[in-house]
Parts: sequence; structure tokens; C-alpha cells
Amino acid sequence: MTQAGMTQSGMTQSGTAQGGMSQGEVLEATARRLAGAGVDAARRESRHLLAAAFGVGPETLLAFPERQVTVSQLCHAETLVARRIGREPLARILGRREFWSHEFKVTADTLVPRPDSETLIESLLRDIGDRQSPLRVLDLGTGGGCLLIALLSELPRARGLGVDISVAALAVARDNARAIGVGDRCFFVAGNWCAGLAPGWDLVVCNPPYIADHEIVGLEPEVRCHEPRAALVAGADGLAAYRSMLPQVPRILAPGGRLAVELGSGQADAVSSLARQAGFKRLELCPDLAGISRCLLAVSDDTRGKL
Ligand SMILES: C[S@@+](CC[C@H](N)C(=O)[O-])C[C@H]1O[C@@H](n2cnc3c(N)ncnc32)[C@H](O)[C@@H]1O
Repeated sequence: MTQAGMTQSGMTQSGTAQGGMSQGEVLEATARRLAGAGVDAARRESRHLLAAAFGVGPETLLAFPERQVTVSQLCHAETLVARRIGREPLARILGRREFWSHEFKVTADTLVPRPDSETLIESLLRDIGDRQSPLRVLDLGTGGGCLLIALLSELPRARGLGVDISVAALAVARDNARAIGVGDRCFFVAGNWCAGLAPGWDLVVCNPPYIADHEIVGLEPEVRCHEPRAALVAGADGLAAYRSMLPQVPRILAPGGRLAVELGSGQADAVSSLARQAGFKRLELCPDLAGISRCLLAVSDDTRGKL
């Protein structure tokens, strides 16, 4: 390649690129290329991509800008940078994404965990009196397992089940649970929302698909072209998954149990109304950091609450 110094024209005896490019120069050139491709936060993302390619931490790139780069490092960097220029999400290229301070494996079969979804974890944890309780936690549409695993990491005596229609996503969730150290307290099964589940769940968490079919064309290429469609879209108005899932939940919630459901922007009224139709009477909307109602918290209509 060219400006970014990714030429394969040769290397010196020490293995550095002929012409001698430094980490700082490659970083500058990569940030310009990503910005040109329409990537937001081009500099930060360049740092992460190059750190992965060079086998160092992102802070090392900043601390040692003068360090020379080898040809094989440049070749590896070029592969990763080309993928990002093709607007593959950074988390997919790196194969990981942080959520609730844990590192989650991410693949083509799983949605990249979003910071907004941490609102569900915060809302449920705020509501739980005793975190040492042996709660039973159910994650509907678990994907890579981020919601269930984050909750179990905060509730040391809780046990959980993650359900998803995608068998491939469940394999990733199992890997994540093991790697994060909660694998012995949860399991994952393929299923269609609550179908076939026994009752008795204290906490039910669900981040369903909620994008309207026609909205998909307006989304960023990272989402539109690279994330699993079944994790994103939900019918003509984006509410199909809520319509199907919400009426099933009261049957499986324990007395006093809580449901936390993620909401798309502007869906609070419609989903609250569906939750009331499903029989929930006590509802609370919880905002994300941008002030958008991101989580609907619903309490089982049973006064013997025990959380
Ligand atoms: C928006 S993603 C959420 C993934 C993960 N829980 C998260 O918060 O990042 C929705 C998930 O619901 C799953 N899903 C879609 N329809 C389903 C159904 N009928 N039953 C169970 N899971 C379903 C998808 O496969 C996908 O993993």
C-alpha cells in the first residue's frame, strides 16, 4: 500500500519496514484513512486496530510513537484496517467488546453489546434489596449472553438461563459465561421466547429486536451490513417481538418478580401499553445516559414481592 506505509517492498535485517515507518506515522495515516471512510472516532479506533495488529496495548502506541514497525506488522495492520474501511464494526474485527466491565467475545452470530443496554442492568440492580439472594434470572434473546452474565457477575448466589432462537449465538454465550467466570451458574438453551419454560423466575431481562423493517436501510453500514438480521428487525413497526414476548412473561415470573425490557428510541408509550395489555400494572421507565427511555421495568402483579 501507499501513504499508510503498508508497502511490502521489503524489510531491513531487523525486520522493520524498508523506509522505516514509525508507530506514530502509521497511526496518523490510519486515522486519516478511517476518517475518510466515514468512521467516527477514527483516531481512537485506529489506536485499537493497530494495537491489535502490532501485538501491543493501545497505550504503548501513544507512549512510543517513534518505535519502528515491521513488515509483518504492517501487513497485519492493513488487513484489519481494510476491514474497518469496509465498515465492519471494530468489535467484530477485534472479536471482543467490553460490557459492564467484562470482555465479551463477539462473532458474526451475535449483536455487538451496546452501552445503552447497561441501563437494564442498572435498573434491575437498583431494585434488588439483597444481592446475596439466590435469585433465578432469565435472559430472553440472550445473544452472546451479555445481560445474563453481567447480572450473574453482580449477584453471587443467583443462577440463570439464557434463551435464544440462534443456536450459533448460544455457543458464543456459553464461551463468554465460562471466560467471565459464571459458567457454573448458568446454562443456555435454544427456544422461542418463553415457550416451554417452567414458571418461577425472579428476574427476567430481554433486549428484543426492535427496528422496523423499513428502517434498516437508514442504519449505519456497521449495523445494516454486518449484524445478524434476526437480532435487529421486528416487523413493520418494530414492535413484533414485544407483541409476541410480553404476553408470555407473566406466566413464568415468580411472585414479585421483575421484568426489564430494552426499548428503542420513541417506543416507550407503545411498549408500556403492550405491557399493560399483558397484565403488568406497575411500570417504570428508566432513561439511558442520553435521557432516552431505554428500559421498561415491570413488576409482577403480586404483592408478595420478595426481592
Ligand atoms: C437485540 S439482540 C439482543 C442480544 C443480547 N441480549 C444483547 O442485549 O446484546 C436480540 C436477540 O433476540 C434473539 N431472538 C430473536 N427472536 C427470538 C425469539 N423468537 N426467541 C428467542 N430469541 C429471539 C436474536 O437471535 C438476538 O440474539
